[in-house]
Amino acid sequence: MKTIVFAIQKGGQGKSMLATHFAFYAAELKHSVLAVDLDGQGNFSRNLTTEAIDKEASPALSLFEGRKRPALPLSGKFIAPGSAALFSGDHRLVRVDEVPKLLPESLRDSLQSLAPSFDICVIDPPPTLGKRLRAALMAADYVVMPFAPARESVDGLGDLMDTIEAVKKEYNPALQVLGLLANKINSRSLDEKKTLEQIELAAPGMLLPTRIHERTSISSAMAASQPVWARSGGASQRLAAQELRAACASILKTMLIK
Ligand SMILES: Nc1ncnc2c1ncn2[C@@H]1O[C@H](COP(=O)(O)OP(=O)(O)O)[C@@H](O)[C@H]1O
Ligand SMILES: [Mg+2]
Repeated sequence: MKTIVFAIQKGGQGKSMLATHFAFYAAELKHSVLAVDLDGQGNFSRNLTTEAIDKEASPALSLFEGRKRPALPLSGKFIAPGSAALFSGDHRLVRVDEVPKLLPESLRDSLQSLAPSFDICVIDPPPTLGKRLRAALMAADYVVMPFAPARESVDGLGDLMDTIEAVKKEYNPALQVLGLLANKINSRSLDEKKTLEQIELAAPGMLLPTRIHERTSISSAMAASQPVWARSGGASQRLAAQELRAACASILKTMLIK
């Protein structure tokens, strides 16, 4: 099993949106996908299925508590039976932050015991630089950092990189940083263009070549628990579908070869 986390310590950057599309994408290609929602808001869980989620069946909190639970099989129009399963996120995950005896490395150990049943694991962390994000980085093989190229989002990227480097050094030297994924781009904004150029200068080679523009078809698709490429729409929807497929394809390709 190869594990990826979409990480940034700010909300609204596209972590859950990308985690969802990546999970749909890998499942479509017949990989067996395990989705792990570490955010108490449960956006990733809800994005993946319109069906009611039994919060007691497979709470992500159980991965920290050492209670062995099977993941909840996902079903729905966009997920073939048996292709994906979920550890759902809900507000009780705050216990991970509050209870010292719940260790970040427990997540890695729990996922290791599930590894024989899945090919790809996708972790969606909460929007803070806390224990759950560290746990995700300790358990992951790959990290992608999605960000909306506005000034405030970019300010925290240094802290995130420091956190990643610290986790790599202390716990997980094999963690591969795949790069920064620019999302919610508004191509008419000169400020954003400048911000992207500054990032390229400050961190050469870190910006992934695939970029995703801001389009309402993406938020509508998430609200309907569908991948944007499964919806019909106009030219803008088709471009959104192309961009998301390209981003998912290049990430998955790297994961399968590196
Ligand atoms: N490229 C995009 N275009 C339009 N809406 C987007 C885009 N990326 C994300 N969104 C929407 O923005 C909101 C925040 O995205 P989300 O993935 O939940 O962020 P995060 O998980 O980083 O907090 C969601 O409603 C999502 O559907
Ligand atoms: Mg989220």
